[in-house]
Amino acid sequence: MTEPVAEGVRTAADVLARTRDLVEPALRRAVGTLPPSMRRMAGYHFGWCDARERPVRAGGGKALRPAFTLLAAESVRGDAEEALPAAVAVELVHNFSLVHDDVMDGDAVRRHRPTVWNVFGRAEAILAGDSMLALAFAALAEGGGNAESARTLSRCVQSLLDGQSADLGFEQRADVSLGECVRMAEGKTGALFGCACALGALHAAGRSGGAAAEQVAFLRVFGERVGLAFQIVDDLLGIWGDPAVTGKPVHSDLRNRKKSLPVVAALTSGTPAGSALAVLYRRPLARADLPGAARLVEEAGGRAWCLARVDDLLSEALEALRSAEPAPGAAAGLEALARLAAHRDR
Ligand code: IPE
Ligand code: IPE
Ligand code: MG
Ligand code: MG
Repeated sequence: MTEPVAEGVRTAADVLARTRDLVEPALRRAVGTLPPSMRRMAGYHFGWCDARERPVRAGGGKALRPAFTLLAAESVRGDAEEALPAAVAVELVHNFSLVHDDVMDGDAVRRHRPTVWNVFGRAEAILAGDSMLALAFAALAEGGGNAESARTLSRCVQSLLDGQSADLGFEQRADVSLGECVRMAEGKTGALFGCACALGALHAAGRSGGAAAEQVAFLRVFGERVGLAFQIVDDLLGIWGDPAVTGKPVHSDLRNRKKSLPVVAALTSGTPAGSALAVLYRRPLARADLPGAARLVEEAGGRAWCLARVDDLLSEALEALRSAEPAPGAAAGLEALARLAAHRDR
């Protein structure tokens, strides 16, 4: 048994540094089994190589979701090591969704670099995403995953796809309600955070004798609440974030007339600024309209609504975490990660 990743950690940065040390070599091993065509694109996306597969060290993402998986395993008194294949599977699903998402959203930059489709073309990017998704299930199965963990991951992917479909569909609609928008975000992002936690607990058999079904359920709710908060913050960063910090373009959601949470909160606010935003959103937005649209979202209270909702979600998440009766060290690590997800600038 290795030392618990949650042992003596004080900050989310500590947790992430330790979990990345465990996850990255396993992820590299899994990606190394792909055919060269797919390995090159996956390696590029993870920041391990350039477009010609020459090694580089670019930022491969925050790797937050696998950290939740490993700590969820420790929270039910299992070993992080047992949940490593599940953590790798979750990170692969996340990255499959990013590669495809950038094709869908037409975004040319992610993690401070040109996106996979921007370098290799849209058709190849679709294949790269497919490859990572298939690899995720293989990683889970080879790491001792049973029918329940495969079902858990598959259901999560279906929720994610359903959320992404709603996100795209809402671009064409002017009457999206706040409830619909929240359900969309729960699907496209909350489900995978919930799954990350549930899978970690499911894979923690060993010494602990397995997590109780109730604990798995509470950890899933914890992850789902954190994931929704995470998406709300992502939507805020998409309007008011600094691209030099986020590594993603700012105002892309507004340009695409996305019904992100701050936008829908503004559109449904019943304020003059909300009505002015609805008028702007009727036609494609020119680059010069984007700062004005951002101001209207703020004036209509869209930003404030999101910030208040993030605080509520964090409280709900921590309540669910307490109900799971987690081991204290892992609980502290999970709480630090949840606070980071809710209060981040990248
Ligand atoms: C971006 O996720 C996509 C969303 C669900 C909002 P992350 O912000 O976790 O992406 P990386 O992996 O750190 O780049
Ligand atoms: C996040 O999509 C959800 C998934 C990728 C499944 P977004 O389109 O909101 O996220 P970013 O801002 O491109 O990372
Ligand atoms: Mg996107
Ligand atoms: Mg998207």
